[in-house]
Amino acid sequence: MEVIIQKDKGSATKLVARLLANQLNETPTMTLGLATGRTMEALYDELVRLYEAKEVDFSKCGSFNLDEYVGLTPEDPNSYRSYMNKWLFDRVNIHKAKTHVPNGSAEDLDEECRNYEALIRGAGGLDFQLLGIGSSGHIGFNEPLSALRSLTRVKALTRDTIEQNSGLFPDPSMMPRRAITMGVDTILKSKRAVLLATGSSKADIIAKAVEGPLTAIVTASALQLHSHCTIVVDEDAAAKLTHRDYYDWIFQNEPEWAAYR
Ligand code: F6R
Repeated sequence: MEVIIQKDKGSATKLVARLLANQLNETPTMTLGLATGRTMEALYDELVRLYEAKEVDFSKCGSFNLDEYVGLTPEDPNSYRSYMNKWLFDRVNIHKAKTHVPNGSAEDLDEECRNYEALIRGAGGLDFQLLGIGSSGHIGFNEPLSALRSLTRVKALTRDTIEQNSGLFPDPSMMPRRAITMGVDTILKSKRAVLLATGSSKADIIAKAVEGPLTAIVTASALQLHSHCTIVVDEDAAAKLTHRDYYDWIFQNEPEWAAYR
């Protein structure tokens, strides 16, 4: 795991956008794993900016989103499919037919989850998985005590997560209590994972995920098992990390980061 600390939200977001764009330029046919949430809005704005500047091309890639609320149709304005259309898919040249978001309104949810996992495997797995982190420590909607070997399935959301996200619904009571989510193991199987966290509200949970024990109570801590995971944070989200001298030394000295300094 590498931890990259940037001075503010803008530079942390730009760094992740450049990482993704560079990988996509190297391997245009790659399969992206995508996330939603407030943190990603700025990231998608930056990717759109790079696309408009002709610095990245989405025409050959495919994508799989991490999660979707149970009970919402793809057309529902609060669904993650609608979020993705609004923030990224409608603004770049990605082929919509190659984008995937679980269907939270499927009649047989277990079958939908099995099929989603099979589709990911069929595409050759996820090449670049983008992640945020919730106040409950979740990645995707893998709430506390999610099995570290879990695959795509339905999860009940915690009170923390409902509090975190219900303000995004026209009426907080409209927020679904369950979601389909890629499992922890689905995420761990990705070839590269990049987690972006910004703001002081993420400082405690980032410290637990990065420097705390590996535990299913904080599913983001499972990223300590990932073979190539980069955590990108701003100063506020990094505030509770204790080994930052080492993290900064790596970023300042390792050749792979030269282009990003
Ligand atoms: C969303 C997702 C979640 C969010 C997390 C952080 O697809 O997978 O894990 O990344 O809840 O959300 P924000 O960015 O709103 O704090």
